[in-house]
Amino acid sequence: MNAPIVYLNHEFMPLAEARVSPLDRGFLFADGVYEVIPVYAGKAFRLQEHLDRLQRSLDGIRLSMPLTNRDWIHAIDELIRHNGGGELSIYLQITRGAAAYRDHAFPAGVDPTVFMMATTRKPPEPALLAMGIRAITLDDIRWRYCHLKTIALLPNILLRQEAIDHGCTEAILVRDDLVTEGAASNVFIVHKGTLLTPPRGPFLLPGITRDLLLELAREHGIPCREADITRDMLAEASEVWVTSSTREILPVTEIDEQAVGTGEPGPVWAQMMAHYRVYTDLLRSGDAA
Ligand code: PDD
Repeated sequence: MNAPIVYLNHEFMPLAEARVSPLDRGFLFADGVYEVIPVYAGKAFRLQEHLDRLQRSLDGIRLSMPLTNRDWIHAIDELIRHNGGGELSIYLQITRGAAAYRDHAFPAGVDPTVFMMATTRKPPEPALLAMGIRAITLDDIRWRYCHLKTIALLPNILLRQEAIDHGCTEAILVRDDLVTEGAASNVFIVHKGTLLTPPRGPFLLPGITRDLLLELAREHGIPCREADITRDMLAEASEVWVTSSTREILPVTEIDEQAVGTGEPGPVWAQMMAHYRVYTDLLRSGDAA
């Protein structure tokens, strides 16, 4: 890729020229929201669903939507074009802007800061998919607005790093004996032959990948339900996966040093991955919903 071109406050420019004030509330308070949108062959994945979730995150932090739906679609298309199309990951962030001085209260008359960048999207390595990943369960120490995609990610960062420090790829978070999600992913299990994922609510992000998986499972007759997952159910599961825009569907083959099921990626995962590939191939050729 040539020098990356980014979008900052209605303008496209080389990354090296993009400047944000140190008084920006994103920097001072993590006062903002974000989205990560994967791009397949130049086509944004479930763009409207991402923009709808962005609207809900903005509503949740009481910040108005700075661009119209049409302007977002146009700006995202331009960003993809400026960065050569292909397989990308778009990061989009809106903060409450830079006021003249630091004060917790919302500033009056300040424009939000809108930033977008595109990076090359690397799908998970085949070796990783063949073996699956290791995970660790950790206490979900986060707040009660986890359904909002805010840039205040320090708890997620600490949890992910703790997982890495234990030789794991992801942390599976547990709150009051119930699995919520991963540090940066949603969780699915196959339990007694049924695919389960925790229901939407304040303790997890409604992942766009998660929702697509539920749709694909229903479409292809794979028994699935949104249901609470206890620690015991997690331990009994024959398969566990984590899902996200950037990592798609990753099989988890070891949790807390115990093998999940046979210790290898399971048959339901393989089936779902095949459906997911068909979907992303249709998106590449311009035929996916
Ligand atoms: N995160 N839950 C959390 C806490 C996440 O951070 C993410 C994704 C997900 C999955 O959502 P989606 O399927 O819409 O990507 C669930 C992104 C990729 C990130 O922070 O980089």
